[in-house]
Amino acid sequence: MSTEQTLREAATNRDFRIGAALAARALRSDPSYWKAARNEFNAVTPENALKMGPLRPSPHTYDFTDADAIVDFGRENDMYVRGHTLVWHNQKPEWFQAWDYTDDQLRKFLRDHIHTVVGRYRSSIDAWDVVNEAVADDGTLRETVWYDALGEEYLDLAFQWAREVNPEADLYYNDYGADAINEKSDAIYDLLERLLERDVPIDGVGLQFHALAGRSDPESVAENIRRFQDLGLDVQITEMDVANAVDDQPEDPLAEQADYYREIVEVCLETDCDTLVTWGVHDGSTWLRNFKDFSKRYTDDPLLFDDGYEPKPAYDAVKGALSGTDRS
Ligand code: XIL
Repeated sequence: MSTEQTLREAATNRDFRIGAALAARALRSDPSYWKAARNEFNAVTPENALKMGPLRPSPHTYDFTDADAIVDFGRENDMYVRGHTLVWHNQKPEWFQAWDYTDDQLRKFLRDHIHTVVGRYRSSIDAWDVVNEAVADDGTLRETVWYDALGEEYLDLAFQWAREVNPEADLYYNDYGADAINEKSDAIYDLLERLLERDVPIDGVGLQFHALAGRSDPESVAENIRRFQDLGLDVQITEMDVANAVDDQPEDPLAEQADYYREIVEVCLETDCDTLVTWGVHDGSTWLRNFKDFSKRYTDDPLLFDDGYEPKPAYDAVKGALSGTDRS
């Protein structure tokens, strides 16, 4: 038996949370997946099971089967559990499209949804992505069903409703494309500042980090993390994966990918950002394989383990950075 420490051990020794997004089906059917998730990570989030679509088969019913399976797995294995996500414009239930609601009905629906879901996991989910991707790429508030019916106040309400049912859980705003200082992270900064001025109960911001190798800017990422922390917010990396650009592959794509992961873990350690969740366990379970839009541009191997669950150079890089043994 190898005496080398696992990624989970390296993270735990350092009070760091290293996580993976999980799918219930793979947990049930693939022992290697289950084993890697349990042995190598000390944090989990359901990749899809807590989204409104999967959770709400009809307007008045819930299906918690998959979400329960993942949350239970996390608790049983002493992991930090992130809940993803309560309010989003994507992955809404199919019946939603045909629903002819008034603004008041939508508000009541969202309130019930948040109360029920956050309430069910009151003692088992540590942190929630309350609102996901509310800001459009040009920095304006995205025109979603929630925004159209309730205006910017939908964010205030969502955070308040979540806090009402679970005062213990940490509540996050989560978004992509805002990892470094740029127009979008500026807009998110302004939005969160407004929420804080209105005393909205928000604890942190999640930076998704769906990234391309070779294009990291760790200094700008560190500056970005620090400015949110200066607002009094916690910052977590919530959905990290690092692909290579299909039309611009470096000589050693796996090394390039490892460098990116290493740099970001180092930024985390420097800035006291203590949670980094990868968006899947192994390359065989990455979401990038299902999106044509992405697969033309991104390689489909963005995670720490390969298709056969072998640790990749990126795995060694993350573990090395966490255990302080990697100085390359
Ligand atoms: C993705 C899942 O990984 C896919 O399985 C699903 O089909 C679509 O959603 N930003 C988010 C995540 O906040 O919820 C998305 O997850 C990836 C982008």
